[in-house]
Amino acid sequence: MRVSRTRPGYAGLVGSTLSDENRLRALVEAGVAITAELSLDALLQRLVEAAAALTGARFAALGVIDRERSGLERFLTTGMDAETQEAIGDLPRGRGILGVLIRDAVALRLHDLAEDPRAVGFPPNHPPMRTFLGVPIHLRGVAYGNLYLTEKEGGEDFTDEDEELVTLLASQAAVAIENARLYEAATGWSKQLESLNEVGNALATETDLDRLLDLIARRLCELLDARLVTVLLPSGADELRFAAVAGEGGGRILGSRITRTSSKSGRVLERGRSERVDSVLDDPDVDNEAMRLIGARSGLWVPLVVRGRAIGVLAAHDKLGPDLRFSDTDLRLAETFATRGALAVDLSERIASDSLRRVVEAQELERRRLARELHDETGQALTSILLGLKALEEKLDDEGSRAAAAELRELVVTTLQDVRRLAVELRPSALDDFGLVAALERLSASFTDQTGIEIDFETALGDERLPAEVETALYRIVQESLTNVVKHARARRVSILLARRNGAIKAVIEDDGQGFDPAASPSAGFGLVGMRERLALLGGRLEVESSGDTGTTIAAEVPVP
Ligand SMILES: Nc1ncnc2c1ncn2[C@@H]1O[C@H](COP(=O)(O)OP(=O)(O)OP(=O)(O)O)[C@@H](O)[C@H]1O
Ligand SMILES: [Mg+2]
Repeated sequence: MRVSRTRPGYAGLVGSTLSDENRLRALVEAGVAITAELSLDALLQRLVEAAAALTGARFAALGVIDRERSGLERFLTTGMDAETQEAIGDLPRGRGILGVLIRDAVALRLHDLAEDPRAVGFPPNHPPMRTFLGVPIHLRGVAYGNLYLTEKEGGEDFTDEDEELVTLLASQAAVAIENARLYEAATGWSKQLESLNEVGNALATETDLDRLLDLIARRLCELLDARLVTVLLPSGADELRFAAVAGEGGGRILGSRITRTSSKSGRVLERGRSERVDSVLDDPDVDNEAMRLIGARSGLWVPLVVRGRAIGVLAAHDKLGPDLRFSDTDLRLAETFATRGALAVDLSERIASDSLRRVVEAQELERRRLARELHDETGQALTSILLGLKALEEKLDDEGSRAAAAELRELVVTTLQDVRRLAVELRPSALDDFGLVAALERLSASFTDQTGIEIDFETALGDERLPAEVETALYRIVQESLTNVVKHARARRVSILLARRNGAIKAVIEDDGQGFDPAASPSAGFGLVGMRERLALLGGRLEVESSGDTGTTIAAEVPVP
């Protein structure tokens, strides 16, 4: 802040020699004025002006000590016009006499600044300053900053009274600064609360995950005063995707991906712990690829955790203002938002798997209904036709008509077989009536019948029944694998192994045909994707191994209590 102005209230005081009584009154008025100021910046400015007016100093300044307590974080002045300030350049950092006050935090009065051995001199274009009074401002026993006054009117030295008055002003100022800080903190809190409320409401009403994450990123970006806030979610096994980005240049990054293993975000996801990094350049974890992408210099990383599992990462970069670093309070705020983000992601994943489960269930129901209809209605009708044809055939005495009827009967027999096979394919009643092993035995037999490909089916499960959804899923997976063998493999033999191992049922389907590259870009087919989805719904997993000459192995595993 480099404001240079004099408030009308103090203008009358300057230049005149105030009587003791007037000075005390001016002090009280100044105290009242600064106490009424709620914005910290405005308050500090008023304070500088009041100090100058009370002592008749031509120049006054207030330096706020930085976090390390070694230099100045802010420097407010009065008495110096904008051009002069411009010509001097950088604000003082707190060396020389200013440094003495920062270190010692006791009042200091000098007849001539330049004569003091501790002085470091003025920068070029600085107006001459000789007489000096410096008074510390203590806040709860800790030095908050200093008031500096120079060039008392008439070239006189600052007096004992000046020192006393400014010390009194400083102690009043301390209370006002504390109030203003509390007020600003309270305003900050209510803004935080408002944003958290907004996010909370959105969690209850918004169903679009991207929009929710975007809101979280935007609000956090505002509250943190950050240049950029991003939300990263896993994408495949090896990557993270920028699912939401708020702040400068956000649009450019949104949707892009970074590798999981070599990025800081990936590590935070893996460790499940928040981290604050003051300088990303000095952090060995930080990956340059990702940092180049967003041009960050400092960072906060917070995992999105649900039921002890990290499912994403929230990252903020570069606090706006002179100091790029985030504080512990910032970290805690980010963690609060990350909790909301995690809820949003979890909810949307659950909704997605819930609707998938419904689709799969509805599909099975529909298949069962169609299978029953084919069997009961179409099958029965064809059987009646068959019987009718047989009777008709017996009654016919002309050879030609009998041959025609026999041919018709053959056609009906094959159609009936087709219908039965179709019904079994849709939903084998054996699966419901006798369980997975029986259904797979029948499936294998009819597969060999139709294709001539030998199947070696091995299992030690016997007629043990598994949960219905597990039986259905494994049956469909074997069924699709066999269809793929016929469609793609040109195999001669297939083996199916069904076994219980470590609390899970494992089905392995292996063929000796021509395989494919499972790592290549996914095909347009639904078979393998469907297998994965079915298994994911049951908490299981699929492994596919395949190569040109060794054939394909599909291994499906489902946890079973
Ligand atoms: N047993 C196998 N032998 C050789 N290639 C296979 C085998 N199983 C799958 N593939 C390859 O993997 C691809 C994906 O299989 P997937 O079952 O997902 O799709 P699809 O069979 O092509 O189509 P859909 O199953 O939707 O009818 C196939 O196109 C094929 O190239
Ligand atoms: Mg297929």
